[in-house]
Amino acid sequence: MTPETQAIQNDDTANPGMLWVLDGETLWKAKAGAANMACADCHNDARASMKGVAARYPRFRQNTRSSRQSGAARQSVPRTKSTGVPPCL
Ligand code: HEC
Repeated sequence: MTPETQAIQNDDTANPGMLWVLDGETLWKAKAGAANMACADCHNDARASMKGVAARYPRFRQNTRSSRQSGAARQSVPRTKSTGVPPCL
């Protein structure tokens, strides 16, 4: 990356990628789906709750007995009617 490109990347007002960040902020707060919930309803401020999350993906869930049990333990989380899971899982 050239120093000029790096300077654009480091300046939020010049970095075109920030347009997608702003879109994401709007979507984060928008209610959607059968449960009519927004990501923010459960996860609050993404700056805190989603910090470091990208580094943990991709992640795979094995359909083992213990993973089914932990699924049952999360039953207090509202589920969507069509899939039975929160919109993010
Ligand atoms: C009904 C509540 C609820 C809503 C609404 C919700 N989530 Fe989640 N989300 C959860 C729960 C509970 C977990 C933790 C599940 C687990 O650990 O297995 C989770 C986990 C996640 C994770 C994994 C975090 C990590 O530490 O690995 C991501 C990413 C995520 N949600 C994104 C979203 C996005 C994006 C939306 C909006 C489209 C959203 N969530 C909406 C409840 C919700």
